[in-house]
Amino acid sequence: MSSGSKVGALRMRAEGTARIVVTRRIPEPAIELLRGAGEVWVSPHDRPLSTEELHEAVSGADVVVSLLHDRIDGALMDAAGPRLVCVANVAVGFDNIDIPAATERGIVVTNTPGVLTDATADLTFALVLAVTRRLCEGERVIRSKTPWSWQMFYMLGSGLADKTLGVVGMGAIGVAVARRARAFGMNIVYSGPVRATAEVEAELGARQVELDELLDQAHVVTLHCPLTDETRHLMNAERLRRMRKDAYLVNTSRGPVIDEAALVEALRAGEIAGAALDVFEHEPAVSPALLEFDNVVLVPHIGSATVETRTAMGVLAARNAVAVLAGEPPWTTVNGATLGLPARAPEAEVAPGRPGG
Ligand code: DGY
Repeated sequence: MSSGSKVGALRMRAEGTARIVVTRRIPEPAIELLRGAGEVWVSPHDRPLSTEELHEAVSGADVVVSLLHDRIDGALMDAAGPRLVCVANVAVGFDNIDIPAATERGIVVTNTPGVLTDATADLTFALVLAVTRRLCEGERVIRSKTPWSWQMFYMLGSGLADKTLGVVGMGAIGVAVARRARAFGMNIVYSGPVRATAEVEAELGARQVELDELLDQAHVVTLHCPLTDETRHLMNAERLRRMRKDAYLVNTSRGPVIDEAALVEALRAGEIAGAALDVFEHEPAVSPALLEFDNVVLVPHIGSATVETRTAMGVLAARNAVAVLAGEPPWTTVNGATLGLPARAPEAEVAPGRPGG
């Protein structure tokens, strides 16, 4: 089928060998899969490409395999040219991609839900424990050779049993975090547009509430919503002030969900007990003021960073790309329904573990 022809709103791939552009190195099993479907170009740079480099690299591509730091907008799609049929993001989040621009052009966008749910929930709970039990602060004492001794009132943290976890965004990751919290004896409230199933609510004893009510109650507030126009700066000065003074804020979603300057002010004013952040508003930059606080735990966007999970993410992105190149619906798509694509097999068949993203 020639470039530009359409099935419904989906553009079929152009004839000839497919050109697949991978914007930064991904796990080898994923590259192997892609090699079976066309000529693969992988960026030789171990860094994000500049906009200019990206535009040059994608020229003539049938598929772009992108990472979360790549800005995939209409200009990039036009720089790729009319052959582009699929952008396969190696991430569950897709705020780096202009979805309407892709849909308008009949380009399928895919993401990698499900395969990173457990890894991200594990890291989230590691952060909950680290900030409430002052783990990193304690480690700094030892490493700096600061004198210390066991004392009744030394470095007391905050226990989790019988406390309330507030989950903002009860998708698969939110649910997985809530499961872990239940094992620590916590009560669960959650907010957001998605209602958990009755089974999940019963299993977790979870109650859906308005965000303000969640902020009034929760001893730990954990963010698991996607970054959209509605959730940008969701945690602003007013909402931070609304949190309990003894509450902790944890973020493994996207940095801009928190107004970082407002967070610094809230910490300075003692409006909250602490924060643990895996993601930052101007990533990879971190507000220097955050480094001043002992009650803040900071890690460099490692929510999904296990060998197994990163491999599974790469492989799922590659399987999506290969499917689209073969004229089949991808396994996990962002705009497939809008493009009129039939749904593929349930997520559980794509990857082991719990479904969803
Ligand atoms: C994602 O997949 O969106 C994560 O942020 C990657 O770690």
